[in-house]
Amino acid sequence: LDNGVSRTPPMGWNSWNTFFCNINESLIRGMADTMVSSGMRDAGYQYVVVDDCWMNPNRDSSGNLQADPTRFPSGMKALGDYIHARGLKFGIYQAPLDKTCAQYFGSYPGATGSQGREAQDARSFAAWGVDYLKYDWCSPSGSINDQVTTFAKMRDALAATGRPILYSINSNSIHSKTGPQRNWGDVANIWRTTEDIQLVWNTDQVNDYPMGVQNIINVNVPLAGYAKPGGFNDPDMMEVGRGTLTDTEQRSHFAMWAVMAAPLIAGNDLRNMSAATQTILKNPRLIAINQDSLGLQGVQVAGDSNQRVLAKRLANGDVAVALFNQSGATRTISTTAAAIGKSGSSFSLAEAWNGGTTTTSGAISASVPAHGTVVYRVSGGQTGEPPVPTSTSLVGTQSG
Ligand code: GLA
Repeated sequence: LDNGVSRTPPMGWNSWNTFFCNINESLIRGMADTMVSSGMRDAGYQYVVVDDCWMNPNRDSSGNLQADPTRFPSGMKALGDYIHARGLKFGIYQAPLDKTCAQYFGSYPGATGSQGREAQDARSFAAWGVDYLKYDWCSPSGSINDQVTTFAKMRDALAATGRPILYSINSNSIHSKTGPQRNWGDVANIWRTTEDIQLVWNTDQVNDYPMGVQNIINVNVPLAGYAKPGGFNDPDMMEVGRGTLTDTEQRSHFAMWAVMAAPLIAGNDLRNMSAATQTILKNPRLIAINQDSLGLQGVQVAGDSNQRVLAKRLANGDVAVALFNQSGATRTISTTAAAIGKSGSSFSLAEAWNGGTTTTSGAISASVPAHGTVVYRVSGGQTGEPPVPTSTSLVGTQSG
């Protein structure tokens, strides 16, 4: 969406993965403070996003949205001011139909969605200083055409406020488990491509609930052709730092999100991050690859059921290459400079985790642990056209 924001994938934190409905203003303020004190802000994380359950289950007498008086007694404008005072940006959650997801599933009372009140609610968000709206379709019904019309209404309402607000949509909350049915790049800045991520590596179900990290990668990789500045595929918030996944799996999760030009939205409790978690989330080389100004998503140049090789062309002519081992045993994964669009006789490979560099005349190879990912930034030689995505098969079932 060409609204001036999200020229590179957004980076931030969101309350849902760890806290679900258990949120309040002191928690969110503490998280904003920790974004600063932990160095996350300086690493590039910007948005503090308050997910579902912030609202009063009832609108006021004029029909305006209002904050839950117990959880957010100072109101959302005050929270936005607090976040802005720390050099951060303010994100909020809302739903386009009658209910938010938590209301739909009965874990939070009320029916406060924006249907029929898009302009009024967009004005509230702008007045509170909202910089990022997560707009979450929560209903098993509604055709793709209904979704296009409804999501576009809030797009236009946000634009009418005159405030630059990143527009994040989710058409997948309940009914679509197989990736987006269209390219949402004309409607939103980021669009969820799968069901909700779960704290699991792989559920052995290719496109079904629950989605683990590997399941999501399977869906999101073929969508590379839709990513560009202002519009990115959103494979959901990160599970890094939430336990369960091994350190190798967490590194893979972050590396693949970085190379897929995914939004980097942390979902862990920032207040008690381990050193290992901080090393992953603040890795400057992977963040630079993710935030590259060309805004391209890594394209799969080779792959089978055991491994994938992704190449992401970067603005200075370098190419980032991810060697992803999706098998259960250590594998040597190899590609070449030519296969990722480079020509020449000598290249430098900067390894993303440790920053060490080696040189090569063309072979690119690494021993990769099970579920691991090795990322190199390849420089030197000449760079041709970026690799072209091989699949665009998930688009085409709708009229826009
Ligand atoms: C949906 C979304 C989640 C979260 C919840 C909140 O499930 O996909 O990311 O926002 O709703 O209820």
